[in-house]
Amino acid sequence: MSKNIRKENEIGQELFEVFKERGQPPTDHKILETMEKLSFTMDELKSTQKKLDSRNKALETAHNLLKQKDNLFNQIFDQSPLGVALLSPDCRFKLVNSKFCHITGYTEEELASMGFADITHPEDRSISQEYYERSLEVEREPFEIRFLHKKGDLIWGWVSSSLVRDTDGIPLYFISLIQDITQNKLYEGRVGNSIEKLRKAMGGIIQAMSLTVEARDPYTSGHQRRVADLARSIAQKMGLSENQVDGLRMAANVHDLGKIAVPAEILSKPTKLNSLEFQLIKIHPQTSYDILKDIDFPWPVAQIVFQHHERINGSGYPLGLSGEDICLEARILAVADVVEAISSHRPSRPALGIDKALEEISTNKGILYDRDVVDACLRLFYEKGYIF
Ligand SMILES: [Fe+2]
Ligand SMILES: [Fe+2]
Repeated sequence: MSKNIRKENEIGQELFEVFKERGQPPTDHKILETMEKLSFTMDELKSTQKKLDSRNKALETAHNLLKQKDNLFNQIFDQSPLGVALLSPDCRFKLVNSKFCHITGYTEEELASMGFADITHPEDRSISQEYYERSLEVEREPFEIRFLHKKGDLIWGWVSSSLVRDTDGIPLYFISLIQDITQNKLYEGRVGNSIEKLRKAMGGIIQAMSLTVEARDPYTSGHQRRVADLARSIAQKMGLSENQVDGLRMAANVHDLGKIAVPAEILSKPTKLNSLEFQLIKIHPQTSYDILKDIDFPWPVAQIVFQHHERINGSGYPLGLSGEDICLEARILAVADVVEAISSHRPSRPALGIDKALEEISTNKGILYDRDVVDACLRLFYEKGYIF
């Protein structure tokens, strides 16, 4: 063993001692060969270490990213303005956020042993049960439901849920978002009440107007009410919208309001009217229009009333409108008005009866009166047994 190798290299010295202990006489060649092998192994180890270091670094970065994402998710979950709940497929609570606890009044621990049905208003349990059962098969639209707060208060909630499945399609859990819409519901209720009160008030005013004109014209008392009822039935038979029917009924109830400006002696004259008197009567649609035109009804009441003596062939008054230039509601009102007037008693003549009235509209169908309106009116009387 050369002293140089032992001196110059600590590893060489060590190897020399190892070989010596094993009773194998070391040679420089053996030591050098072993040192070379060791050096190669060391290089391999260093390279592996390097790889491991870079892998660890990548893992650490991924771990930090995951941690950040996890924190972000927790923040979103917990600070969400919506209540969020994870429910098992049989609707037991698995995880809830603080907003959900706030909405329901229950703690996370309390909810852990509860199901969706436990917080649902008893009358709405079947709705929620049906919703979640169907959600296992198909995606459902969000729905509104009543909950009961832990203290017993009623809460209106808007609920949107989606089902999460595993890779084999087995349902894992529902993610349900819940928004407290109690205030909106209360507001809607108050607005609804106010609208209902306004509708009633408006109905009362219309009724008062109707009675005012009939008070001066006792012979036609009840005429506007009966015309309104028939006009409504014709409109419904013709498939007009509920809103159009409401507007028509309102207009029909006051369609002769303008007669308030006609002297009472003319209205109740027991003999045939002369031409001048008839001219005075013919002003009443204009007068009705003038009274009603500035009232902001949600329907064209003034226009309907204005046109109720117009005729399909243009022979009516006050404007001589024809065909579809006359609004549909006025065409219906015209038929109802004529049928009621002919079938009832008038100051100048006894009642002519419903048959005479229906004969008049049949004969003048498409001439004076709208074809579809006449058909609908005839069907009402002949097929549905309509009576005033
Ligand atoms: Fe009239
Ligand atoms: Fe009338």
